Amino acid sequence: MSSSTTQPRPQREQWSGQLGFLMAAVGSAIGLGNIWRFPGVAYTNGGGAFIVPYIVALLAAGLPVLFLDYALGHRFRGSAPAVFRRLSRRFEWLGWWQVFINFVIMTYYAVIVGWSLAYTVFSLTLAWGDDAGSFFYGYIGLADAPTFSSAPVIGVLVPLVIVWAFGIITVARGVSKGVEKANRLFLPLLVMMFLVLVVRALLLPGATDGLNALFTPQWGALGDYRVWMAAFGQIFFSLSVGFGIMLTYASYLKPRSNLVGTGLTAAFANSSFEILAGIGVFATLGFMAHVENVSVGELDGISGVGLSFVTFPTVISQMPGGPLFGVLFFGSFSMAGLTSFISILQVVAPAVSEKTGWSVPRSTIVAGVTSAVLSIVLFGTTTGLYNLDVVDAYINNIGVVGSAILMCVGIGWVLRRTSLLQRHLNLVSETRLVGWWWKVLIVVVVPMLLGYMFVQAAYSYATTGYGYDGAFEAVFGWGMLLVGALLT
Ligand code: ALA
Repeated sequence: MSSSTTQPRPQREQWSGQLGFLMAAVGSAIGLGNIWRFPGVAYTNGGGAFIVPYIVALLAAGLPVLFLDYALGHRFRGSAPAVFRRLSRRFEWLGWWQVFINFVIMTYYAVIVGWSLAYTVFSLTLAWGDDAGSFFYGYIGLADAPTFSSAPVIGVLVPLVIVWAFGIITVARGVSKGVEKANRLFLPLLVMMFLVLVVRALLLPGATDGLNALFTPQWGALGDYRVWMAAFGQIFFSLSVGFGIMLTYASYLKPRSNLVGTGLTAAFANSSFEILAGIGVFATLGFMAHVENVSVGELDGISGVGLSFVTFPTVISQMPGGPLFGVLFFGSFSMAGLTSFISILQVVAPAVSEKTGWSVPRSTIVAGVTSAVLSIVLFGTTTGLYNLDVVDAYINNIGVVGSAILMCVGIGWVLRRTSLLQRHLNLVSETRLVGWWWKVLIVVVVPMLLGYMFVQAAYSYATTGYGYDGAFEAVFGWGMLLVGALLT
């Protein structure tokens, strides 16, 4: 008999209802991945044609793994390590691996949200002047080379402490009084602010050129495996699936909950927001190209950090009503980040609490403060941006992808629990939508697709690297993963 039926189940907190859970799930999904990553990823990976691998990734892997996360969390009701232990003691480490992933992600996620909070304030006076690039690299105090520095940057430290204080207080207050309340407040505000921003962006001269640049399909890109990998990577990060977040959130649902309907709604909302962000960002870039009298393709910095913190401030300065636009952009960026950030911390805190027997507030403070200190030491310094770039690539492309593969292989091949979970999904949901196809996807398709991605990423990092000095990547990339493997 499995340990799942013999474990005593402690009284577990609950969302106030289905809507509270849905808002938290959407709040977790909509984050930096939507505003910061998606537009650049879509543009550089085939433009309009990217929609094909994106939808395939969503249907073939994103949704099935989302359902798997929901089913595991809801059926076994616990933090990630507890869920895997209840499945089989041999798999508890997989839950701790997921806790480790979240621990790492939150250390740098908080930094980006902190920058964004600072930029919300900077927007009021257009503090970056007429050279947003020099201003940003000056603000984060970026060192010339990626070595290790422990010199903190005060301007980064202050918002970072605010982000951590917010995260720790919210999660310590509990699921319904803390996390759910924060999402109920921020999510509608975020959507409203972002809609205003998109409408404003669409009214700017040159907006349609930006949209054409984003949506004109480069069909040839579909033959490139890297485009497909980018789509799968985007979906996993953006939907928050495969590394413990949705599993933990689902564990606080009432016994009878429409898992399937909620999953579909959350995924639809997330992708819609992603497309909306693409429209807003590229309409704005179209305006910039119009002002500079170049084509959108000739603009620099239309993805990643440069897009949000250099290119956007530059455009904001060029448009009438720039300060308001800046507050809308960085304000919604910050709120999207904060609601995802608390979902990441929510994976770590209850895991510590369930293992040690400490109260949730105490565990949140211990885990949060430890991670906050690392966050400041590793990413709040003059080399923070380099460290962050390497850690982000390795933890996502190796850590998260590896976690999702291990989940599917462990549950589908070793423990053979997919039928149990399929029955559970159909039993508690209002529809019996999850058929045999779901098992095929989890047992065969997802491990194969992700396995391929994993091998490609691991091989290229091991041979050519991610673009930094070998020793630097050995520490922040492989070294970081090794620490996780040893700890779990
Ligand atoms: N899903 C979160 C994001 O998109 C982690 O940023």
